[in-house]
This record gives sequence, structure tokens and C-alpha cells, in this order.
Amino acid sequence: AAADKGGWSSFMAKEISEEPEAVANTILGRTRDGQVVIPELDGLDDLFAGIQRVIIVACGTAAYAGMVGKYAIEQWARVPVDVELAHEFRYRDPVIGADTLVVSISQSGETMDTLMAVKYARERGARTLSICNTQGATIPRESDAIVYTHAGPEVAVASTKAFVAQITALYLLGLHVGRVRGTVGATEAAQHVLELESIPDKIRRILSNEQERIEQFAHWMADTRSVLFLGRHVGYPIALEGALKLKELAYIHAEGFAAGELKHGPIALIEPGQPVFVIVPSPRESAELQKKVVSNIEEIRARGARVIAIAEEGDAAVLPYADEVLHIPLAGPLFEPLLAVVPLHIFAMGLSMAKGLDVDQPRNLAKSVTVE
Ligand code: G6P
Repeated sequence: AAADKGGWSSFMAKEISEEPEAVANTILGRTRDGQVVIPELDGLDDLFAGIQRVIIVACGTAAYAGMVGKYAIEQWARVPVDVELAHEFRYRDPVIGADTLVVSISQSGETMDTLMAVKYARERGARTLSICNTQGATIPRESDAIVYTHAGPEVAVASTKAFVAQITALYLLGLHVGRVRGTVGATEAAQHVLELESIPDKIRRILSNEQERIEQFAHWMADTRSVLFLGRHVGYPIALEGALKLKELAYIHAEGFAAGELKHGPIALIEPGQPVFVIVPSPRESAELQKKVVSNIEEIRARGARVIAIAEEGDAAVLPYADEVLHIPLAGPLFEPLLAVVPLHIFAMGLSMAKGLDVDQPRNLAKSVTVE
């Protein structure tokens, strides 16, 4: 029964349409009187108060969710966070111990590399917390604590709705740990909770206002051979995710870059007609970063790039330079990734469909990789 497309053309189309619920259901039951309350983490306050560092381990899309989470957890809980690909982590004798919290992120809960990283961390005395979308899976069973994402079953091989649910869970965790450590006040936490609770409706707005237009672009771009993605701060992991999704679904060469790296190499790739998606930081979050990214757009545009900007509604600064602007609703500091990723998921799916590919079962990939 779970494997029913319910009238959608693909599981992926259905799962992207469920991104609002994936966020909403992950928040559900985890707030009270405007504050984050995570019943699963009862009794762990001493652990959260005492940790000296957090290491997030994951693979693929889940690792990009981890990179987004790093910004929020460091900001709110004032604890250093590293993000590592699970398969790299356990083969390099990492510095970990009882004061380390290793947070694994996995949709399936069965990814072998991530499971082995968790076991490795435990053997070395670290505490482990699993963010997982599958009840009773192996990784949560091997962990000290579990925060389930409630995205619902994800069938399409490439992950979409689980990604926004993972970011949501990391944000709830960051706020919770920040409250325990006294690094975020009740008033501030309440504002972030409100912001998080407003995200599902904002995703719905993107789906209803922009989905058709994005699919239209994808159609026009069906013979594109390479696409670049630029982002900065929390937009950087979103650029990586946009590129990964395009490789997975449309078999197109795609790369994501930190916008600040442009002048250190990637700008050499720009030639006339090169499509570049640019995730523009909110000017309200950081006018300085927004200006820098707008000047990146000018630089690549001057070299002939075709720029598709993802920018906040009302951000007029990008209009003169971008070929196309995809608007996302206003969101509070740090929350933009939950919105900016939605057009990129739609675009990758649209391009795959325009090329007549199997969007749910891309060649050579498996939903969960249970071998090392
Ligand atoms: C596979 C899937 C990806 C997913 C990755 C991690 O490669 O194709 O979509 O991001 O595994 O999966 P997990 O279940 O651990 O989140």
C-alpha cells in the first residue's frame, strides 16, 4: 500500500509534492508552548551539556542535510560541528571520545558505510544519535538516541522529501541542545520554532507558483550537457544537492561550488551559454553576503553564463543580472535552504522527464546501499 503513486506520474513527483508534510510531520509533537520538546531525548540533558564536539556522519543527500545542520547547530548550541562522509570518517583514525556526539543521518537506516561509522564511533567511546526515516532500522538500533524524521516512506531512489525532513530534525536538535546548554534563549528559540512551523506553507507556495515554470525550463534545457550550481553559507550545501540530484536523475554533468571559490577556479569553466543556478542569500540575513553573490552573478554573466537565480521574493538586486529568477518566500535566518532546494528538486525531476528517463529508478543506483 505504501508503494502507490496515488495518481502522480512518478514516486518522485509524489514525494516532492509531500515535502511540506515531511517538514510538518517531523515537527509534529516536538514543540510545546512555542518551545522545542523532543520526548525521545528526555534524560539526555547531561550528555548535551557536556559534549565538546559533534561529528555528523552520512552519505549522499543525507550528508548535504548534515552540512546545512552544521550551520544551525553551531549557531545555536555553540558547539563545534564537523560533517564527514561516513566512509571517510572511519578510515582515518578520527579524534573522538566520550565528549563527542556522533550524529548519523540516514533515510533508510541501512546504509552500510553509515552503519559502520556509527559502530566505529561507539567502539571508541563516543555517544551516538541517529536521525533516521525508517522505524526500527539497523542504524537507529545501534545508536544511543534516535530522532526519527517523519517524511513517510520514500520510494524513488534519489532522496527528496527525506532531505527537508532531515534538515528539520537537525534544526530541532540544534535548538534543543542550545536550550540545554543555555546558548539560546527562550524568546529566540520561540522565534525559530515559529519560523520552522511556517516552512510547510512556504514550500506549498513554491510548488503552486513556480513548479510549472521550472518544469518548462527543464524542458527547454533537455539537451544541456553541463550545469553549475553556486551557493554560499547555507546555500552552499544546497548547490551541492542541486548538482547531485541532476547527476542522479538526468545523467548530466553537474557541479556545485561555494560561490566564494568562483575566482579560485570554477570561473574558468564559464563560457557563453553555460547554465548556472545561483542560490542568492537573503539580503535580510546578510546584506554583505548577498552583495558578494550578486557580484558573482555579474562576473559570470559578463562571460556569457546563463544565470538562473533562486532569490527571495522582493530581492530586486538580482533582477538586472539574472536571465531567470525563481522566487522563494521570505524565511528567517538559516531557514532559506528548506525553500531553495525545492526548485532544484523540481528542476532535476523535470529534466529527467524531458529526457524520457526513469526518474524513480535511475541507472546504476540503489535506494539504500547495504554494501561497503
Ligand atoms: C543512496 C541513495 C541516495 C541517498 C544515499 C544515502 O545513494 O540513492 O539518495 O542519499 O544512499 O542513503 P540513506 O538511506 O543513508 O539516507
